[in-house]
Amino acid sequence: MSTQLKTKNSKLKTPAVPPRWRNEVERILITDAQLARRVKTLAAEIEKDFRGRETVVISLLSGTVMFLADLIRHLNLPLRLDFIGVSSYGAGTESGELVFTKELRLDVRGRDVLLVDDILDTGKTLSRVLPKIRALKPRRIKTCVLLDKPARRVENIRADYVGFAIPDLFVVGYGLDFAERYRNLPFVGVLHPHVYKKPTGAILKNKPPSHQA
Ligand code: PRP
Repeated sequence: MSTQLKTKNSKLKTPAVPPRWRNEVERILITDAQLARRVKTLAAEIEKDFRGRETVVISLLSGTVMFLADLIRHLNLPLRLDFIGVSSYGAGTESGELVFTKELRLDVRGRDVLLVDDILDTGKTLSRVLPKIRALKPRRIKTCVLLDKPARRVENIRADYVGFAIPDLFVVGYGLDFAERYRNLPFVGVLHPHVYKKPTGAILKNKPPSHQA
């Protein structure tokens, strides 16, 4: 079960964006305290379901970096950890072609897999990754995402564990990027439109905004 954000009431309690980020980040959508609480309860749910199993946690690079680190430190399970590198490339604001940049190393045959991603948006990423893992014959695969944006879904897919269901906003922070920036923010914030509507500079190279509009 996911946590629906009560944007109206929680607006009053949401702290201000730190001065350093105020020009770029419009407001905080999920505070670090809310993230910490929810990640802990998610971990408890997962721990209950995976207890006694040979578990492999597979994390999709790079947006999961903070979520993964926080989640697994609360998972009191003997687990193995591996990563798949996958990135969406394409024009405009829609997810484009997916490119695999790192393959799995661990053997998942007969094991229980927890697939972790930061955000479920159009669903194209998970729809491509899941069959690849299924082909390796794990006992079962469960999916876990920090954020779910159901309004943008184009694939018929849902995650087994969801941290927060969020509206269709351009979010950054807690691992999520725009043009590879903002991953280090300790909260999930809403990016000012002026940031993603202007040319993004050399660091972006060939990667336009993909997972969100
Ligand atoms: C982002 C995000 C998800 C994916 C979700 O990845 O991390 O993996 O998009 O979008 P979808 O549901 O529309 O497929 P991105 O390619 O931006 O790479 P990143 O994790 O390195 O930021």
